[in-house]
Amino acid sequence: MLDEKKLENLIIRNMQEGDIDSVARISDEGFNEYYPFDYKKSAELMFLNTKQGYVHVFVAEIEGAVVGYVTLKPWHDGGWIDLIAVEKQSRRSGLAQKLVEYLINEALRRQMRYLTCCISIELTSVKSFWESCGFKLVGTMEKLLSPTHDGFLFYKYIEKTPISCMKNSSHDHMCNCK
Ligand SMILES: CC(C)(COP(=O)(O)OP(=O)(O)OC[C@H]1O[C@@H](n2cnc3c(N)ncnc32)[C@H](O)[C@@H]1OP(=O)(O)O)[C@@H](O)C(=O)NCCC(=O)NCCS
Repeated sequence: MLDEKKLENLIIRNMQEGDIDSVARISDEGFNEYYPFDYKKSAELMFLNTKQGYVHVFVAEIEGAVVGYVTLKPWHDGGWIDLIAVEKQSRRSGLAQKLVEYLINEALRRQMRYLTCCISIELTSVKSFWESCGFKLVGTMEKLLSPTHDGFLFYKYIEKTPISCMKNSSHDHMCNCK
């Protein structure tokens, strides 16, 4: 967990080229146990895709260090959240909720009406996280992640969602969102 003082210096912003290594490190830390992929290549592609407008990547920065990120892909008149991760030492401080709150405002700005995302059904902690952000579990998508691996689909209708949109959020930190 992070102390309150550090959280006051939180900035959320668009990913830049200089963030590639940090995003790759956070992906490695977040996904290596259950979802291995080429984290460096993925971070490079994320940045390239942001430049071309295919995806938006928002990073959380504290005192010059990137500590988390989230991705948003436009999809029809909504958005798909592919990945979200926070470095281990900074978890359970409300950072991922802040990233989702920022993402929702960015999605609303782009006239998106809803958000969807999918997780492995085994990740009960991640299920709790999406529920804490007010996402509804729509159902199970059989064999989504692999021929033996089902996924949970989550959905949130965001049209007219107020700026502070978290359900039961116990985190009340300042966020210098830029
Ligand atoms: C999921 C993840 C992004 C959450 O980041 P975080 O900054 O720790 O989350 P927050 O502090 O904003 O948590 C908000 C709420 O979500 C729930 N939650 C988060 N992590 C949880 C956990 N490990 N167990 C149970 N509930 C959890 C809680 O309700 C929490 O509120 P509380 O701390 O007041 O109880 C982080 O654990 C992570 O990076 N995991 C690895 C990558 C991953 O699996 N990403 C998701 C799939 S793309």
